Amino acid sequence: MTKFPTVRLRRTRQNEKLRGLVRETRLAVDQLIYPLFIAEGIHEPHEIASMPGIVQWPLEQLGREAERIASLGIPAVLLFGIPSEKDEVGSQAYNSRGIIQEAIRLLKSVNPELLVITDVCLCEYTSHGHCGLIHNGSVQNDTSLELLARMALTHAEAGADLVAPSDMMDGRVGAIRHVLDEQGFNPPPIMAYSAKFASAFYGPFREAAGSTPQFGDRRAYQMDPSNVREALREVELDIAEGADIVMVKPAMAYMDVIRQVREHYDLPVAAYNVSGEFAMIKAAAQNGWIDERRVAMEVLTGIRRAGADMIITYFAPDVAGWLRE
Ligand code: PBG
Repeated sequence: MTKFPTVRLRRTRQNEKLRGLVRETRLAVDQLIYPLFIAEGIHEPHEIASMPGIVQWPLEQLGREAERIASLGIPAVLLFGIPSEKDEVGSQAYNSRGIIQEAIRLLKSVNPELLVITDVCLCEYTSHGHCGLIHNGSVQNDTSLELLARMALTHAEAGADLVAPSDMMDGRVGAIRHVLDEQGFNPPPIMAYSAKFASAFYGPFREAAGSTPQFGDRRAYQMDPSNVREALREVELDIAEGADIVMVKPAMAYMDVIRQVREHYDLPVAAYNVSGEFAMIKAAAQNGWIDERRVAMEVLTGIRRAGADMIITYFAPDVAGWLRE
């Protein structure tokens, strides 16, 4: 008879206590960031068909939702604004009385401890739905930087704890860092959407934020999904320009990018588990085809295992509940 193996990996899998001791990756509520959509001019929450359970909030109900999120132990929210008026130059994005600036002030007054992170990008505010200014049918880089920096400054002035540029213009982290630091008052850190890919997984978000481009697509500024070396160059540039946290987005189809960023750099890494990733799990679960809770936890644990320190996810409140049970 052949000798039985002396090494048996099943020994440490026998029960949950043992499995807990040898567990390599943990998912905790204090690593999660919950996105919130705030719409101007509405008085009731608006459901988003492709993102079950996620709504656009009216300003007057935001305080209550913030209390719920904070009471679940979720440390931070990421804000997106939907203005009632859009124009060519996204004026509402850098209006100090705009919907997001008001939302920041309200959130900080309701619960100063809940971290407020703001998305800095023009696409929800421009009539053409692109992330920068348009000239001769294409998105202009350098003229957009000034507006993005102004936008970030109004967020900081309203009390944002972090600003998160997601536009993918070259040089935006440096432009924002410069304007924030010039002001002198305790400037917030920058969470840069460094490796943001031109992804079809953003579909449901564009319904939620009303930010679908009216012509063309975002491939002339967001990254080609095929490229990982270029993602590292983006990260490197953002670090040189003063980013404090770097992000990879989307997450599920880009686990290798998260891993490589983790291995190449020492900065904290964020991953965005985007709207399409959330919608796929929701839809399959609603059909009874998968177990929502187990699949969501498996995906989020996988993103952590790939190397993300923090995860932006629409599942945050659900996960907070599941982790408590
Ligand atoms: C804005 C922005 C987008 C997302 C976050 N910020 C959409 C886009 O670039 O088209 C996507 C988030 C998600 O899909 O959950 N530029």
